[in-house]
Amino acid sequence: MSTAALKPRPTTEDDITAEVLRRFDNTQDPRLKQIMQSLVTHVHAFLKDVQLQEHEWWKGIDFLTKTGHMCDDKRQEFILLSDTLGISMVTDLISNRKPAGATESTVFGPFHRAGAPEKEYGADIVAKDNAGTMAYCFGRVLDMNGKPIAGAALDVWQAAADGLYDVQDTTLENMNMRGIFHTDKDGRYLVKTTRPVPYQIPFDGPVGQMLTATNRHPWRPAHVHFVVSAPGYQKVTTHVFDSIDKYLDGDAVFGVKNSLIAEFKMHDTKDDIARQFGAEPPFVTCEFDFVLAPE
Ligand code: BEZ
Ligand code: FE
Repeated sequence: MSTAALKPRPTTEDDITAEVLRRFDNTQDPRLKQIMQSLVTHVHAFLKDVQLQEHEWWKGIDFLTKTGHMCDDKRQEFILLSDTLGISMVTDLISNRKPAGATESTVFGPFHRAGAPEKEYGADIVAKDNAGTMAYCFGRVLDMNGKPIAGAALDVWQAAADGLYDVQDTTLENMNMRGIFHTDKDGRYLVKTTRPVPYQIPFDGPVGQMLTATNRHPWRPAHVHFVVSAPGYQKVTTHVFDSIDKYLDGDAVFGVKNSLIAEFKMHDTKDDIARQFGAEPPFVTCEFDFVLAPE
């Protein structure tokens, strides 16, 4: 056949990009169309920018395949990948903008579990003894005008003193270091726990290999997780970080915000707080008020 009879076809890299974008032109859902065309635009730009070689493409496919194989109901390697690339935090910042004065959100992470036990005011979330320093986290849940919100729910979870979540350690009781609390009539909450410790995110998989290959560490600064919610208010997914932690400036998943850093105060003697909480020294306390924006 003479070449004169052939239709022009995409031949260059840029032709292919334009043709792929065109194939999404008929997408019914406008948001899906926007996302797919933008994704193609940026991924193709990346390929051209780094001049990706075929063996590197294979390495990427292998990496993503291993990431998928690592996932099950207890391990979410894709969330870890998103977290360590800062994707989770950028998405959080875009989708959870709060008015000034409301408690800021941070990364959800892969260790939340639905169905944590309901706990009374002041109850202990340590289902199995661990070697940690006893800690009391307390404060109020407030609206934007400083008015206490009674009956707000606080879903709390935390790593144990050895830096492991219950799902990572089969020797720990199910639902260890987890509980759902509610504020009292004055908007107050009180959680008995152990002082949070810095810990390493799981790095025995592809994400760990990526961190090692790029000379990055897997540490997160000590924190307690909270999801705070109340009818009529925006839910906030957040952490409270220990102000003396050495990893505050290098969180492996970029989750630290200044407004979420709080002091864990040491109590060595039977002081007023010890009497109020019925606590035996030594223990630490952390006071933190959550402020919810209206829905
Ligand atoms: C966490 O805080 O539980 C967490 C967040 C991101 C990655 C790994 C763990
Ligand atoms: Fe955590």
